[in-house]
This record gives sequence, structure tokens and C-alpha cells, in this order.
Amino acid sequence: MTLATEEHLRLLPKVELHCHVEGASRASTIADLARRHGVALPADNPADLYRFTGLNQFLAIYDVICSSLRTADDFRRITYEALEDGAAAGVRYREMFFSPGFVIRLGVDVATVWDGMRAGLLDARRDLDIACRLVLDFDKPSGVAHAEAMAEFAGAQDRDLLIGMGADSVERGIDHRAFAAAFESAARLGLHRTIHAGEDGPVDNIAAAVHELGCERIDHGFRLLDDPVLTGEIVDRRIPLTVCPTSNLMIANVIADLAEHPLAEQRRLGVLATVNSDDPGMMQFDIADEYVAVADAFGYSLEEMEQISLDGIEASWAPDEEKRALRARFEREFGELRGRFGLSARV
Ligand code: ADE
Ligand code: ZN
Repeated sequence: MTLATEEHLRLLPKVELHCHVEGASRASTIADLARRHGVALPADNPADLYRFTGLNQFLAIYDVICSSLRTADDFRRITYEALEDGAAAGVRYREMFFSPGFVIRLGVDVATVWDGMRAGLLDARRDLDIACRLVLDFDKPSGVAHAEAMAEFAGAQDRDLLIGMGADSVERGIDHRAFAAAFESAARLGLHRTIHAGEDGPVDNIAAAVHELGCERIDHGFRLLDDPVLTGEIVDRRIPLTVCPTSNLMIANVIADLAEHPLAEQRRLGVLATVNSDDPGMMQFDIADEYVAVADAFGYSLEEMEQISLDGIEASWAPDEEKRALRARFEREFGELRGRFGLSARV
């Protein structure tokens, strides 16, 4: 068994399928934008805000962070910087969430958000070695009319830039089945579909997502193993989970130690469970840190970490040809890195 060093895991080429643009924003950028717009943050250094003891408190801080985002250029900047930081963590392909519900309620139009993010994405495609598509997450507590409006908006954009619709924010007390019509609209408009489910809420929300909302992926899925029959179905249908282990520890606070996380058991049972960071700016913990933490918590070999990276390609919504090219590139880079660190070739 080959164990990888931290440096090796940071350089490993990766796919990231669960990362929020707003949650990836740098504390220094939020401080700068708040100053420019005359928004008073509750702490001089936004990094001091990034302490939370559960999902609800985290989302309250997310609200504060989003109050600093006003103009299209603000959204361009945080999108571009999130991709710069992703590239530095070894991400070669990312499907990144954005959550307009947080700023729509402050009077910012979704078109302003999209214009800025689209520009940031296009600039990053030109400058950086990271491919990215965006996924619009509607805000579950904002209700079904908001969900439907977000499906219609997302459906009208360029599918190569905006590839899917998801949903985030609180889970407890939300009737997930109420969003069936919005997800049906998204499907009709050719959008891929995913949803945050089973993060700090019950496994029944995962069942609803798969059976009634037509979701193709599940974001988090921490509670999946509570339902062995559903687990079997998820394995058989290769429905991916975008797991965020350290987020579950730091944000949802559903485990006290990473080694308690069900990721290893999910993967052992054959679930296509990928590894992601969720909100790397707000957690000050990126996907490279996450790979190091996961390898350490579960004693994973370099081979297993390479497989986790390849599983991200399978779980992505990239076109088949792009997936083939990514696989070939990752295999080549795995070999180059092994050579550089004096390790034997992958078998
Ligand atoms: N938005 C950003 N991160 C989130 C999370 N972990 N759960 C729900 N909504 C979120
Ligand atoms: Zn998330």
C-alpha cells in the first residue's frame, strides 16, 4: 500500500462537484466589498465571522457575507477568485453552485448575479487551468414559486455555462416533495438536477429526491446508510453523492471526528461517493486539505485517493468526450506525480 504525502495530495488532479461560489469567497474580498458598499459587517475581519456551531448559524453568517455582494462585478470577482483558489488546490474540473436566493431578498436581480458570474467563468476559462460549469441552487425556505422562477431562469441560459439546478439552505422542516413541479420544469428545460439532502435532515429527504424529484445526484447524503434498501438502489443506479466530510464536521456538526463519517462505509458498499469541500472560503479548508484529511481519517492509500479523484469524473455532468479527455489527463498526471515522488507506477 502506498501512502501519499500532503504535497502529493495537494498536487493530485481533482474534480469538485460540491462547492458554493459565495462560500468559497475570500474573507479579504468580502471585507473589501463590504467597505465599498458601506455594509457594516459584525466583525472587522470577516474571517472572525467564520465560526459556526450548526447549519442554521452557518446560514445566518452566509446571509451576512452575501449582503456585501451587490454588483455584477462583485459576482464576477468572487467567481474568478473561487476558480483561482480551486486551481491552486489541484481542481481541473468543477461544477460550482451559486445561490441567488440570498441576494434576491436584498433586492439584487438574478440577472445581475448571472451576468457577473458568467463573466467570471469566461475570464477563468481564458486564464486558468480549471474547467467549470455553474449550477443554480434555489433557496428551499423561499418556497415553490422561487424554485419555479429559478428553474425558468436557469433554463434560459447557455447550457454549457449553466448546466443544472440544485437546492440548498435549511433542510429540517422543509417538505422536499413540494419542489416536484420545479424539478420537472428543470428537467423539461434540459437542466441536470441535484439537491442538498440528508445533511442534517432525515434519509427520507434523499428518498424524496431520488423517487419524486428526479434528482440525478445527492449533495451530502450523510444519512443515506440509515436506509439499506435505498442505499442498494443508489449503488445499483450509480447515483453519485457529493460528500463534504469536513463540512459535516464544521458546519452541520453531525459528527465530532472525521473518522466517524460514513464516507468510508458508503464507498465500501459501492456508493459512488465523491469528496468535496462545500464552502472552502468560509471553512478556510479547501479540497486539497479535504483529501489530506480523508486519507488520514480512513488510512486511505494513494490508489484509493486516485480512485476518489477518478470517481469525480464519472459523477460529473461533463459531456462524454470531455470525461474521456479528463480521465486520460488524470492517468497521465497520476503517473508523472508518482515519478516525481519516487513511487512505483499505478496498477
Ligand atoms: N449553502 C452553502 N453551504 C451549504 C450547506 N452545507 N448546506 C446547505 N446549504 C448550504
Ligand atoms: Zn453545500
